[in-house]
Amino acid sequence: LAGDEIIVVSNREPYIHHRTAEGVEVRRPASGLVTAVEPVMRACSGTWIAHGAGSADRETVDLNDRVAVPPKRPSYTLRRVWLSKEEEQGYYYGFANEGLWPLCHIAHVRPVFRTADWEYYVTVNQRFADAVIAEAHTDDPIVLVQDYHFALVPRMVREKLPRATIIMFWHIPWPNPESFGICPWREEILEGLLGSTLLGFHTPFHCKNFIETVDRYLETRIEHEASTITYGGDVTQVEPYPISIAWPEGDLPSIAECYRSVRHELGVGEKHLLALGVDRLDYTKGILERFQAVERMLEMHPALIGRFSLVQIAAPSRSSLDEYQNFESRVRMLAQRINKRFGSENYEPILLKIQHYESDQVVRYYRAAEVCVVTSLHDGMNLVAKEYIAAREDERGVLVLSQFTGAARELHEALIINPYHIEQGADALYRALTMPELEQRDRMRAMRSLVRDFNVYRWAGRMLLDAARLRRREQIRA
Ligand code: G6P
Repeated sequence: LAGDEIIVVSNREPYIHHRTAEGVEVRRPASGLVTAVEPVMRACSGTWIAHGAGSADRETVDLNDRVAVPPKRPSYTLRRVWLSKEEEQGYYYGFANEGLWPLCHIAHVRPVFRTADWEYYVTVNQRFADAVIAEAHTDDPIVLVQDYHFALVPRMVREKLPRATIIMFWHIPWPNPESFGICPWREEILEGLLGSTLLGFHTPFHCKNFIETVDRYLETRIEHEASTITYGGDVTQVEPYPISIAWPEGDLPSIAECYRSVRHELGVGEKHLLALGVDRLDYTKGILERFQAVERMLEMHPALIGRFSLVQIAAPSRSSLDEYQNFESRVRMLAQRINKRFGSENYEPILLKIQHYESDQVVRYYRAAEVCVVTSLHDGMNLVAKEYIAAREDERGVLVLSQFTGAARELHEALIINPYHIEQGADALYRALTMPELEQRDRMRAMRSLVRDFNVYRWAGRMLLDAARLRRREQIRA
């Protein structure tokens, strides 16, 4: 693949320029996709095409809508695509986030499908496919299409660039055929995805669900052994590639320093016990269930009242959607109720921070918390779990992890729970807070060696190697 041209397509951009009172500020978004793909792009260079959504994005690009990133040490090109308010509403908020997001995460929020949203989804997918074609310098680039915002892009690119190697990665779960079947445009979505050379999911289970869905709704030839689908002459290889993070390098403030300064910042005592949740404020993350588990634990173990808090960092997300606004008020109300019940003048069992934290701040919290709690009701992978592990070079700290995350398939030494079972969550939290140091070390050590070895470069490397193999096969055949 050396010398080959790489183009990434995602909705969310890796760097967002905002206008503030002090001038233009660059932000990194809270997105598992961006966390994972950005270090890979920095290593490979190439072009990343994404929606320019920041208030100062237009002022920071050149005449071709391009900007060199990372801002401090540019190594690849970010090409921004502009969307009108209506397009953003229909394609992103509407079809992607009110339709496909709840459809694929079985979290008991009903998907909403509107024809107008679907039409914007098609238009915007075409806009991004056109941008790929315009950016490509060769007729056989390697195009990495990211996530549920762009199910139609692989086929659209394939039509214009039949020799392209198209890798599509679906960052969220794929549900079973019955669940997926309620989407009025299920055939179109499947056909779109089958324009890819290689289609990746986080787990074998999601691959199996996808293949079964195709089998149910399209006329194709499926080779189960080889995990390939042939549709209209195109062959798509379907494989699991569990995503990961870049293992942290460079100087971090010491664990002791983080431990102290975070407690100081939160206004709690030096020995105060902390559990930590870090999520986008999203109804799939199990934040209410997590708070309930804390409440239940304090009921069962009143000695912890006044000595323990859950810090919940919740980055506001998709907040113009009703479902997200409702969710935010439910989260605030539950935190208030529990704080009223167990709190006092200078003690809150739930420290709710609904705001964006930059990643270096989050790392300080990881290094300060005795426990990290991931209670997603359904999650493709969940990189917070892996980030917590990577931050604990002291081999201390316990991860409580929902069985409904992709991460639970790999991180067997976490305390695995069913987040719907509140008592089980409460027990796990208590067990985590009281776990002997030796046991913490054994568990953490095992998980650290796994995350260090199976890092995000390995994720990308495996996909690119498989793609190279398929590409060579194509070239020999042609
Ligand atoms: C999930 C999706 C990503 C998305 C991220 C943040 O991780 O798989 O595609 O970027 O959530 O959501 P947002 O809508 O803010 O990009």
